[in-house]
Amino acid sequence: MKKLITPYASDFGKPNIVIRHFPDTESYVLIPQLDSLKNQKITVYHRLYPEPEKRLFELILILSRVKEKTKEIALFLPYLPYARQDRENKKGEALSADVLCGILKNYGVKKLITYDCHFLAQAGNFTRKGLNIENISASRQLYAYAKKYFGKQDFCVIAPDKGSSCFIANAKGGNGHSLEKTRGKTKANGLKNGIHGDVNGMTGHADLGNSIRGKGICILDDIISTGGTLVHAIQHLKSLGAKKIIVGATHGVFAGDKIAEKILKSGASKIFVTSAILNNSKKVEILKL
Ligand code: R5P
Repeated sequence: MKKLITPYASDFGKPNIVIRHFPDTESYVLIPQLDSLKNQKITVYHRLYPEPEKRLFELILILSRVKEKTKEIALFLPYLPYARQDRENKKGEALSADVLCGILKNYGVKKLITYDCHFLAQAGNFTRKGLNIENISASRQLYAYAKKYFGKQDFCVIAPDKGSSCFIANAKGGNGHSLEKTRGKTKANGLKNGIHGDVNGMTGHADLGNSIRGKGICILDDIISTGGTLVHAIQHLKSLGAKKIIVGATHGVFAGDKIAEKILKSGASKIFVTSAILNNSKKVEILKL
């Protein structure tokens, strides 16, 4: 299996695809080894975040040439953007998850390998719009970090919603719990253009207070975007008597200014994410995938 690596995925190997930008910002792609790819099985390593539309168009340019030559294309994208609009909440909404999977399939991708894809509730092999997807979960790695952090101290793992409950699977002995989000019509969390009702609160099972009181807490989720989910989860858990709270996620999107600061201010002692999305913030610890 030959690897084709873009400059945006250089932490997975030496880039051998050239991507440059014209003065008007349009993208230019060059695959110097294109001729040597004839009838080969290849894996393309790339990132689609930040600047998802630009990175996606560059990926299409890459695939447009690779597809002519190769026998089989696998694609590694550690974070799959546009995965959150995966169902029609309001009549007439476009399903970006379907569109993106369809584009990749039509450009010859046989299999997409990704981490904690938002529209898949667990790790494994799936198909969407004809695209085969291998979904890997970073939940073990995140849990291992929390275990090391708390050492001998007893701690609970909390998923902020049912969709993230795969993240509590590693916590044994009744030490894993899911919360539920409540949503309002207001534009909370400093969002200028809230689309669906933003998270405005959290609830947990009736006995949650007894399970977490005085314990360390690690909240794990797939994505940190505006941080609103975490802030509400932290407030709720603190009101129930949680002691120290740390928060981890596979994908640190951090959509906006001072998101990490906001989460820390609300009572988290630590924020850790994986390198699925790269981040230079000193406030966030990065676990290398
Ligand atoms: C939602 O279903 C996801 O699992 C995350 O909880 C969500 O995307 C986090 O977004 P935010 O940080 O904006 O609350």
